[in-house]
Amino acid sequence: MIPFTYHTPTRYVFGPQAECRAGAELSALGLKNVLVVSGHGSARRSGVLGRVTDSLTEAGITWTELSGIDPNPTDPKVREGIRICREKNIDGLLAVGGGSVIDTAKAIAAGVPYQGDFWDFWAGKAVVGEALPVAVVLTIPAAGSEGSGNSVITLTDGMRKISLRTDVALRPKVAMLNPELTYTLPPEQTAAGIADMMAHILERYFSPTDDVEVTDRVSEGVLQAIIAEAPEVMADPCSYQARANIMWCGTLAHNGVCGTGRLEDWSSHAIEHEISALYNVAHGAGLAVVFPAYLTYVSRTKPAKIAQLGRRVFGVEEADDAKAAAITIERLKAFFASLGLPLTMAQLGVENPDIPLMVKHLHENKGTLLGNYLPLDSEATTEIYRLML
Ligand code: NZQ
Ligand code: ZN
Repeated sequence: MIPFTYHTPTRYVFGPQAECRAGAELSALGLKNVLVVSGHGSARRSGVLGRVTDSLTEAGITWTELSGIDPNPTDPKVREGIRICREKNIDGLLAVGGGSVIDTAKAIAAGVPYQGDFWDFWAGKAVVGEALPVAVVLTIPAAGSEGSGNSVITLTDGMRKISLRTDVALRPKVAMLNPELTYTLPPEQTAAGIADMMAHILERYFSPTDDVEVTDRVSEGVLQAIIAEAPEVMADPCSYQARANIMWCGTLAHNGVCGTGRLEDWSSHAIEHEISALYNVAHGAGLAVVFPAYLTYVSRTKPAKIAQLGRRVFGVEEADDAKAAAITIERLKAFFASLGLPLTMAQLGVENPDIPLMVKHLHENKGTLLGNYLPLDSEATTEIYRLML
């Protein structure tokens, strides 16, 4: 285990009507005039946006709306948000939605007090120091942005999708999680969210750091809970208990606890971000295609940890590591398929992916070698993209 500092200052308010706490929670943060950020209408249609703004009004907080955030969000909405915040002296952000909405709110929060262009942070030219406080009402358990310090934005000029990682600066101050808000999710979004949260654990599980038994066991436990609850949530989208378990798994998967004491990998996410940047697929669906291909590549030289995953999480009994790894990958694919997730680029809706372009952007964005578990050069990443065909 390597030394670590674990600090997740997000306050979680979990349960029915959590969104109605918005006014009280934001007042406790001292906020008086906020920007409420949302997507393309699901939050309005379900009524959650109305309940949130009513709660703000009751608490004496004034608000302005910024809606229409796209999945795989891009820079123009961030710039629009920064402009509005400056014009209206906004003192905080409230994201009502999923990863795309939350990440846009975080980017606005970073950009408002900054004199230069907000993209400087994503381009690695500046480090986020000051930022407006961000609060969240989560409507889809998936990206884990409600508990992470990260924000993933695509620059439309060149379609560069970059994940900015901050330790504390962009972590939400409060996240309100009501599992009932997720009843309206279409099955493909529920499934994509499940693949994403599993990937967030696996990116940390496949680590070059040995002797992290406690973190391995926590990770395996959350994975087992996801695998146990997923069939229930797909069969009965209004099962409170299944939705609640999946929602909390999504947060635990990505708020850092599954990475304590070890180096993390994150190559599969970088590989996927090139797919969703160019082809605008749902990030989690993309990961369902990427992860088995990544593991197939890794299993050729490092099968032992995949075999451990299989034995502890997927009920694999095979003693030989290489054979156990192969069975594990098949079981992971079968699990994704059972949720209706794609397993190939074609099933993802990408018939002729431009692999050389994705590999070029990937290594321009991330350097010559990608990831920590098995550092990948461009030959390796090309092979992994080919394994997805
Ligand atoms: O736009 P609306 O109408 O709200 O519809 C959304 C959107 O179409 C819909 N939706 C959300 N809640 C709903 C609902 N529909 C019905 N009922 C509800 N309750 O779901 C669709 C997807 O929303 P989105 O926010 O894009 O989903 P997700 O949470 O999967 O976020 C994906 C984005 O997050 C990034 C991804 O790359 C992608 O851009 N990520 C962010 C991370 C972070 N900040 O830590 C980490 C992740 O690895 C990920 O990369
Ligand atoms: Zn993800």
